Amino acid sequence: MRLLATLARRYGTPLYVYDAAVVRDRYRALRGAFTRPVLVCYALKANSSRAVASVLAREGAGADIVSGGELVRARAAKFTPSRIVFSGVGKTEEEMAAGLRAGVKAFNVESSEELDALARVAGRLKKPAPVSIRLNPDINARTHPHITTGRAENKFGVETGEALALYRRASRDRRLRVMGVQCHIGSQITSLAPYRRAAAAVAALAKGLKASGIPLAFADMGGGLGISYKDEMPLDPKALVGTLEKAFADQPELELLVEPGRYLVADAGLLLTTVLYRKQTSKRRFVIVDGAMTDLPRPALYNAWHPVEVVSPRRGKKTMADVVGPVCESGDFLARQRPLPPLERGDLLAVLKAGAYGFAMSSQYNSRPRAAEVLVDGGKARLARRRETHADLTRGEL
Ligand code: LLP
Repeated sequence: MRLLATLARRYGTPLYVYDAAVVRDRYRALRGAFTRPVLVCYALKANSSRAVASVLAREGAGADIVSGGELVRARAAKFTPSRIVFSGVGKTEEEMAAGLRAGVKAFNVESSEELDALARVAGRLKKPAPVSIRLNPDINARTHPHITTGRAENKFGVETGEALALYRRASRDRRLRVMGVQCHIGSQITSLAPYRRAAAAVAALAKGLKASGIPLAFADMGGGLGISYKDEMPLDPKALVGTLEKAFADQPELELLVEPGRYLVADAGLLLTTVLYRKQTSKRRFVIVDGAMTDLPRPALYNAWHPVEVVSPRRGKKTMADVVGPVCESGDFLARQRPLPPLERGDLLAVLKAGAYGFAMSSQYNSRPRAAEVLVDGGKARLARRRETHADLTRGEL
């Protein structure tokens, strides 16, 4: 906690602080749980800051990217291109070309028209494109509706019948190379059952394809491992890996891939924010802080619950308070109805478990410069991204 006060003084707030050791521990725990060849592809969208991503690249992780921008970031963080998978429902031909030129491991293709586009790009570049089809197994991951992706009413992937047709087409097209199958059913998943069902569907598809002369090299089970924000029981990586390995036990030739984002980085990050004002209405105690929905949009977007801790709590009775930001929206809150001790202007609060989908989803709404980021590693803290300035706000405007 003393370190946090020092960092706040040195770099100002709102400030993201990440702990590299936590990221490494998470990666090793998951990677180490597998007993057969696996590639853990970090879903860069969770936190694409180079300082954090390069911790994972140095561990030997692969990357899961969803845009040309993430390809640039993955390369800047020094992920090996042959360990990068390119996901996303709307890749442009330019993005496909960039991925193909870089030499990514596979494109996770999500529609028939996308497969055509990829073949065209590969033909143009005279370089066969590695393909894996994203299966939509119509499974309910039982998570927040905004982050479930594997139902037939979601825009992601293709249903089994269409997947088979796409594999047949791809296997006959010399511009394409069939490599694998991918499936991602949602995020913040805290039970094994949906994974078990999804893995069974993927394994059955792979087996059927092999029987019809289209053997695959890998099966990618996506990300989604949930963590404990409040009182959820997080998924045990060993249990998840056991479930996956069991589903593919009779196909030992398949390399397994997973694409975790949140699991690797959420617990490694916190958002430090300073109390600006206190305010009491007839109904509520408000603590107005300098961090906002622009810095950490998860509470506003999903009503997500993040733990809030006072860095140097004062003695006194705790009372319920809403922790809100300066943005002009009633939805701009970081926490609601939390028992907090007495606070003074200038006190520091830490919003925990903010390493995933925090800074990565931040915005400049209300013309607020984005926060700075600090990486703590081996007892040393270093500025990983400088705070944006007002000049950054108008950069690019003509
Ligand atoms: N692979 C694919 C294809 C994905 O779409 C995602 C996340 C992942 C992997 C990583 O999922 P994870 O392991 O992090 O659950 N902004 C939301 C989460 C959106 C997740 C989108 N896709 C949040 O803050 O909860």
